[in-house]
Amino acid sequence: MTEKEEIRRRRTFAVISHPDAGKTTLTEKLLLFGGAIHVAGAVKSNKIRKTATSDWMEIEKQRGISVATSVMGFEYNDHKINILDTPGHQDFAEDTYRTLTAVDSVIVVVDVAKGVETQTRKLMEVCRMRHTPVMIFVNKLDREGRDPFEILDELEEELQITVRPLSWPIDMGERFKGVYNLYRDSLDLYQPSKQRVTESIRLDVNGPELEQHIGGALAKRLRDDLELITGVYPAFDREEYLAGRLAPVFFGSALNNFGVKELLDCFIEIAPSPRPVQAIERTVDPYEEEFSGFIFKIHANMDPNHRSRIAFLKVCSGKFERNVNYRHARLDRTMRFSSPTAFMAQKKEILDEAFAGDIVGLPDNGNFKIGDTLTSGELLHFKGLPSFSPEMFKYIENADPMKAKQLHKGVEQLMDEGVAQLFTNQFNGRKVIGTVGQLQFEVIEYRLLHEYGAQCRWEPINLYKACWIESDDAAQLEEFKQRKHQYMALDKEGRDVFLAESNYILMMAQQDFKNIRFHFNSEF
Ligand code: G4P
Repeated sequence: MTEKEEIRRRRTFAVISHPDAGKTTLTEKLLLFGGAIHVAGAVKSNKIRKTATSDWMEIEKQRGISVATSVMGFEYNDHKINILDTPGHQDFAEDTYRTLTAVDSVIVVVDVAKGVETQTRKLMEVCRMRHTPVMIFVNKLDREGRDPFEILDELEEELQITVRPLSWPIDMGERFKGVYNLYRDSLDLYQPSKQRVTESIRLDVNGPELEQHIGGALAKRLRDDLELITGVYPAFDREEYLAGRLAPVFFGSALNNFGVKELLDCFIEIAPSPRPVQAIERTVDPYEEEFSGFIFKIHANMDPNHRSRIAFLKVCSGKFERNVNYRHARLDRTMRFSSPTAFMAQKKEILDEAFAGDIVGLPDNGNFKIGDTLTSGELLHFKGLPSFSPEMFKYIENADPMKAKQLHKGVEQLMDEGVAQLFTNQFNGRKVIGTVGQLQFEVIEYRLLHEYGAQCRWEPINLYKACWIESDDAAQLEEFKQRKHQYMALDKEGRDVFLAESNYILMMAQQDFKNIRFHFNSEF
């Protein structure tokens, strides 16, 4: 197979959802189809239980599991599928956002009873920013839920994307009969099976057989629904989907392995192969000969005796090879890797080569930061994901004067890994850590102690948002910085950030300084 063919057959994506919608279950069923696992239950849920108790052993255990399953590669119908897993707990949402920088498309799972939930909404915002093609799987049709048309309206409104059903449910809950596959024009009858991959029965929706299978009333309703769908929704247009403007919708039950194969079969057909990636210097095409890639995730080894980390590299173009010299753009030095790992389902193995679209695990002892670029030689910097304003802020202080250095190093490295965001207040020099949730503070404190031997203390700071500011009016910008000097900070890249204490203060600032632009994320 040529290099181009290798790249063309790759599908790298993430399954995302609000916790409990069925992401883990769906992922597992996809692996089942790929033959990557043989029985259901083999993939442990990597979600940190939502009880929000900080049971450390539990979190560590789960982190351990999530490393093994954070990328799952398998072969299916001549395609190489790479599923990137994302943490379920919302306090680690930043991890998920970063993972989304490494995928070429996503599958969003929505619970038919609950519809669009907070986390789904936030994740979709990131997909929209990046024009990531999105497919939606409405799950749990074996349970009572909302009317499918109502769900479609909600998806369209809340996720701000045009939707197009490609399968349609026939009743739900205990009366759930199956789905009509609009993409293939066939009927798949529901046969619940948690363990096996079942073949579905196919027939023509316009033939008399339909009545035999689902009865006269449901047959009529299905035909009416289908007519309405064709009348109301635009025909499926793959270009629109690839541009991230139209989301095909499927219905099914992941737990019962129903509707999953249809989703997967359609997915490999329409989902994009690796797409061009934007670097600051230029757009990089996956089919270019020269290798390039970037680090989107760093995972620390939780064993304190082995401080090594794994850096996850997404190959953006060409072919990555073991033991070949590559250029680390930020450090401007050459690096080669003798034991890069591939992620095939649950095992890790040394790989010799990987192609655009693939994820490679690189053993790292501190050379990588999130967003670092590796190339065959050209100086490139891939654009990462912007930082978003954190939700919670605390001052971090050193609680053990003898260990100041360790604390400094620990904080630096944890921030490089993307555990949280660091802002340095320009007025008093104090360091502010910003997170999405409380759990991240606990993770930082725990890891500083166990991995770096450093102790920290948290002190409250009352902040509403961190805003990245910029202006074409240098004088006004300077005036603003002086007026707000107590609240000016630098982020880790040295960019100006205004730490607003309240929404009111922010609004006043926006009013008083019309020539300054306030951004809630660092990419503007
Ligand atoms: P998540 O990763 O998105 O957080 O969700 P996960 O797959 O863990 O699923 C959440 C719960 O929903 C699980 O039940 C799972 O069994 C159930 N579930 C997933 N798909 C379906 C479906 O199609 N139908 C029904 N009825 N339930 C479904 P749980 O009780 O929380 O966990 P478990 O003990 O079953 O693992």
